[in-house]
Amino acid sequence: MRGRRRIFCLLLCAVVGGVACGSEQLQGEDYGDLLVSPSGLVLTQDEHAVGWGKSDCTLCHNFNNLHLVDQTNTGINVTAIQDLVFSDGLDSCAVCHGTNGVE
Ligand code: HEC
Ligand code: HEC
Repeated sequence: MRGRRRIFCLLLCAVVGGVACGSEQLQGEDYGDLLVSPSGLVLTQDEHAVGWGKSDCTLCHNFNNLHLVDQTNTGINVTAIQDLVFSDGLDSCAVCHGTNGVE
């Protein structure tokens, strides 16, 4: 019974997280340093063609895979960003990433 549960957990993690269980260092989504584009963190239609105009970011982005690494190399506190995202949810995104073309 225990073994079966463990396998179930592993499968669930693989499916839900798209990542491995356990203590591995997670990279999450990686589009390089977002600050190198002229608009910085703010999304533009060019940079975000697939997701542009959509308000439900979770259709394509899993909160657990975001803001895991300081890709900007500016020493930003990614843990603080994660906390904000988990407490304020989708309402928080626009504060840093702009409106994403949503009116
Ligand atoms: C339909 C899928 C989809 C939705 C919905 C979506 N995105 Fe994305 N997002 C993507 C894809 C795909 C990329 C990878 C870059 C690309 O090819 O456009 C991306 C990249 C990004 C990036 C990195 C941009 C860069 O400069 O490289 C940010 C930030 C982002 N999304 C934020 C958001 C936010 C905030 C929302 C909700 C308001 C959102 N996304 C909704 C698909 C989506
Ligand atoms: C307090 C500011 C802040 C908030 C709020 C915020 N982000 Fe970010 N986001 C950043 C910063 C800074 C980066 C670049 C640092 C990094 O690479 O993690 C980033 C990077 C990203 C990326 C690129 C992948 C990555 O992890 O680097 C995606 C996708 C993204 N954010 C989506 C979202 C979505 C969706 C929300 C809302 C649920 C959101 N962000 C809320 C600041 C924020």
